Amino acid sequence: MRDQSQDKTANANAPDFDAPATTLTRAEAEKELALLAELLSQANEEYHTKDAPRLSDAEYDRLKRRNQDVEAKFPDLKRPDSASDQVGGPLADGFDKIRHEVRMLSLGNAFSSEDVEDFDQRIRKFLGLGAEESVTYTAEPKIDGLSLSLRYEGGALVYAATRGDGETGENVTANARMIGSIPQSLTGAPDVLEIRGEVYMSRSDFQALNKKQAETGGKTFSNPRNAAAGSLRQLDANITRVRPLAFFAYAWGAMSAPLSDTQMGTVEAFENFGFSTNPLTKLCNGPDELIAQYEKIEQTRATLDYDIDGVVYKVNALDLQRRLGFRSTTPRWAIAHKFAAELAWTRLEAIEIQVGRTGALSPVARLLPVTVGGVVVSNATLHNEDYIAGKDSKGEAIRDGKDIRVGDWVQVYRAGDVIPKIADVDLSKRPEKSDAYAFPTVCPECGSDAVREDGDAVRRCTGGLICPAQAIEKLKHFVSRGAFDIEGLGAKQVEQFYSDGWIKSPADIFTLKTRYGSGLQQLKNREGWGEKSANNLFDAIDTRRNVDLSRVIFSLGIRHVGEQASKLLANHYGSWSAFERGVLDAQDTKSDAWADLNSIDGVGVVMAGSLTQSFAQAHELEMIRALVSELSINDAIAPQVSDSPVAGKTVVFTGSLEKMTRAEAKARAEGLGVKVAGSVSAKTDLLVAGSGAGSKAKKAADLGIETIDEDAWLTLIGDA
Ligand code: IVH
Repeated sequence: MRDQSQDKTANANAPDFDAPATTLTRAEAEKELALLAELLSQANEEYHTKDAPRLSDAEYDRLKRRNQDVEAKFPDLKRPDSASDQVGGPLADGFDKIRHEVRMLSLGNAFSSEDVEDFDQRIRKFLGLGAEESVTYTAEPKIDGLSLSLRYEGGALVYAATRGDGETGENVTANARMIGSIPQSLTGAPDVLEIRGEVYMSRSDFQALNKKQAETGGKTFSNPRNAAAGSLRQLDANITRVRPLAFFAYAWGAMSAPLSDTQMGTVEAFENFGFSTNPLTKLCNGPDELIAQYEKIEQTRATLDYDIDGVVYKVNALDLQRRLGFRSTTPRWAIAHKFAAELAWTRLEAIEIQVGRTGALSPVARLLPVTVGGVVVSNATLHNEDYIAGKDSKGEAIRDGKDIRVGDWVQVYRAGDVIPKIADVDLSKRPEKSDAYAFPTVCPECGSDAVREDGDAVRRCTGGLICPAQAIEKLKHFVSRGAFDIEGLGAKQVEQFYSDGWIKSPADIFTLKTRYGSGLQQLKNREGWGEKSANNLFDAIDTRRNVDLSRVIFSLGIRHVGEQASKLLANHYGSWSAFERGVLDAQDTKSDAWADLNSIDGVGVVMAGSLTQSFAQAHELEMIRALVSELSINDAIAPQVSDSPVAGKTVVFTGSLEKMTRAEAKARAEGLGVKVAGSVSAKTDLLVAGSGAGSKAKKAADLGIETIDEDAWLTLIGDA
């Protein structure tokens, strides 16, 4: 594509995109719209199809805005091929997906010394260590960048993938090859080695880059982390090449042979392969030494040329790491001790109420924009009405009992990527005439009563699906990433379709084509839709008809039933029909079905009750069935993580175990693909009874379920 700025000087007749659109004549506008259509369609093609954009994002946005301005002035001149009708700007994700052989996890957080002591306690308890036995940890800076997994086979870099959702990331190999501190090949490495670490940009490089970008009219970045992310996730690796990125190696995924029996030893081996590792990494015995190292790193923080946001602690011995294992998304053997959040004072301009998919009324603070830790903050969460009134969930005073009022000066803080919060109120600056905030008792969206049940901190709209906010939020959840994740159908499109009356409930998404497909024209002429994007949408919807059971369960947006719980439920019931039957039958809390639902480890009475309640509502069940009739749902196959004889079996532990703690026994069993249940039912395959086993052993005997002792169990799983 031609460079617009050069065109302007080269050709005096070229349109001046900076002149106000209001001064254009009709003829000029027509000419300009034709040129913009051509420029923008070329830019789209270069970006999406050829992976070779020549316009910066800022230039692209400028052209697109100009197009809209001119169209707004002369609506009848809008062209059929106008870029305003094309969905997806140049930021669509054009990377291939890569499934991580070993999931990329995140870390739990510690915010205080007590949290660090608790972390150490939990580990010792899990491992059943005595008071005199201390655990050795590594302590190292938590780099504020983005994580990357580099896979080497036979010593050669075969791919680089971002973390993504932890299971699947984006293939950014071409870009990673442009980073100087990432070796292309390794000598003496195991056959398969996945090195994990953090891509970051140094502060000085970030400043230099922003300066250059500002001079050349390119996009500037708000902080080094965003600059690193924006530079790595470039479809054109040539852009990554000129961006100064660096990489610290600190962890690993698949590894065909161990490099050491410790965390420290393994990371030192990475250094010998030519990776940069962080020089502030240190071995520490017990929580006191961890905290001392934390304080030391915190003191050097300002002098480092890269951003860090805490200190990561990891159990050093790899056999202990293995025994400790993982929770659903975080390892038990590591934690991130975060630095105190950055604070700033600003004025609270308004309190707005958002209504969520379960009807919860969530108050949001609209703030006079203020910079907190390099990011402009204009909203903060206010949690719930008690929080605004200065009380916690137990009715005790928070902020010394100070309430929060519109017009107040409030102190905002950001900790990591979480939504900003309000820490304090400056009463000396409170306007003379101000009223305590009156939390609404009717839903601001539909006018239904908003009620607060006993023991619930949250006030909820009782309008159900007549409440447009709830309906839209449910639909947005339905199309979200962990649920149906339909390409081209995001929050914005859902809102549009809902307000047009085209989609009222999830099933409507799947009948959209039958109802409006022949009238494609209608969709096509809508703002933001062209023929191609409409067809793409129908295709994307169709490909999602075939869907895994756990996704369907999660997509229903039932309170307390998150992604992880949906997987547990799917694995337990196996098929949609068994799940539906199970939940319907469980409405009777005296039934076996209720006991069965509650026997799933990770499902408690609250979640079980929430499930049975939503299936008990006729309209809800009708909607769910309408959806299911549009789908072909894959049965859940419990992940066969091992070829152990116990994989896939339902096992209950009871009594006290001697060789390991109950928590370790459970985690180890789950690692072998066992379903560990909390209570004995007809579905139990095996009871492992330690000493002093009581009622569970009796029930198992009554049901004729095989019962073995701890030693027999260890022999069975090969740990004896
Ligand atoms: S270890 C299984 N070490 O923090 C543990 N993570 O909140 C894997 N991070 O996604 C992570 N510095 O992007 C580890 N020294 C460090 C780190 C670090 C930064 C990031 C990483 C991870 C996130 C977790």
